[in-house]
Amino acid sequence: MKEVSIGILGAGNVGRGLIELIARDGEAIAARTGIRLKVAAVFDRSYQKKSEALAGVPASDDPSIVLSNPDVSIVVELLGGLSPAGDLIRSALSAGKAVVTANKALVSSPAGPELLKLAQDQNLNFGFEAAVAGAIPIIRTLRMHCVSGEVRSIRGILNGTCNYMITRMEEDGLDYDAALRLAQEKGFAEADPTFDVSGQDAAQKLAILAGIALDSYVPVDRLRVEGIESIRPVDLKIARRMGWVIRLLAIARRTDAGELLRVHPAMIQEDHILASVKEERNAVFVDSTSAGPSLLVGKGAGSHPTATAVLSDVIDLARGGEVRPALFQKTEPEARADFNYRFYVRVQTHDRPGVLAEIATVFADHDISIASFHQEEGPEPVQLVIVTHAALESAMFEAVAEMDRLRAVMLPSVVIRIEDL
Ligand SMILES: NC(=O)c1ccc[n+]([C@@H]2O[C@H](COP(=O)([O-])OP(=O)(O)OC[C@H]3O[C@@H](n4cnc5c(N)ncnc54)[C@H](OP(=O)(O)O)[C@@H]3O)[C@@H](O)[C@H]2O)c1
Repeated sequence: MKEVSIGILGAGNVGRGLIELIARDGEAIAARTGIRLKVAAVFDRSYQKKSEALAGVPASDDPSIVLSNPDVSIVVELLGGLSPAGDLIRSALSAGKAVVTANKALVSSPAGPELLKLAQDQNLNFGFEAAVAGAIPIIRTLRMHCVSGEVRSIRGILNGTCNYMITRMEEDGLDYDAALRLAQEKGFAEADPTFDVSGQDAAQKLAILAGIALDSYVPVDRLRVEGIESIRPVDLKIARRMGWVIRLLAIARRTDAGELLRVHPAMIQEDHILASVKEERNAVFVDSTSAGPSLLVGKGAGSHPTATAVLSDVIDLARGGEVRPALFQKTEPEARADFNYRFYVRVQTHDRPGVLAEIATVFADHDISIASFHQEEGPEPVQLVIVTHAALESAMFEAVAEMDRLRAVMLPSVVIRIEDL
């Protein structure tokens, strides 16, 4: 039996979950894997408040308890954020220790490729399976897809908060604020939900997935990112009538015009397998030239699901496996390039004659052809729903900006891309 000692930086939700899993399942893990795991030390700034959860593991608010501990061969970073996590991982690697992290903010930042290079130069492992989609083994899956052939596309539902809110708006007709409040009550949304609903959380995860699948490191601030803030139950109701559902998608796709990387709400056919992914679940749909399409669905967050992903990296590298993906080879493809989509546009107007003609003129001036038009019955503002033929995003956003300046238009229009899967 091989004994492996780990040191944990950060005893929060995931750190405590990891300690619990090792305490609960240590014997079973040893029997299954031949590895007896020991948590040798924990660094946490408020370790004294967490003594019950730490269950006798030596702890300190000085990171040297982990980094200078000769017994610790694997450092598990679960602090979150860029600093001090980045410097502590650098110190761990410099001390010859392998690293496992769940830190999407760090791995997707410019420090990510730098730390991977440092690990590679030292011939050390650096695992971050838990950084994307919690318990869904997407990093492993992408490494498998990348062994031969190439990944054609990834389409992910990577934010549980957004997916839960969309489900509540769609199935229960809750308005946006009520769906958000419910998500907060259930623990699926933070008190300040901006990072999730704006698409930024999904963008960090997309940057990591694209780094592996497309060999392309793109900083998050160069991705095209739109959130769900403008989506309302009426959009989900109309989408259903047209045979679509709306999901916040993170997309990495090779196209003839280059690599397309973006996060935005999208209409997808209601009979596509991704449309069945509801509630707070995450999912990733990968299509590659060798393996074809596959879908992974599961829990994208939570203490034990995330700790399980951390644990699987720890066990793999304790058994001498390689968990460090070959990642981030190239830099910065034209991730914000202009692409053609069909669009759903909901325009909110005064109820008076001639409005439709004014709107049609704006679309025509931007060379955008209307495929269908529909007016929802109800009080002002009247909801005009337009579906276009394929048009360039730049043309569409210019047209909508111009249309929203018309006197008849009362509120900003809602624009959703139709993702033909
Ligand atoms: N929670 C999830 O479901 C989930 C899912 C996927 C990935 N992740 C990632 O996992 C990591 C940990 O998340 P979490 O939810 O466990 O976070 P958390 O509950 O906030 O835990 C972080 C822990 O680190 C401590 N800490 C933070 N900054 C510190 C510093 N400068 N010095 C010393 N200790 C410090 C915190 O102490 P205090 O208690 O004093 O703040 C807390 O105990 C993050 O990178 C997160 O993105 C989490």
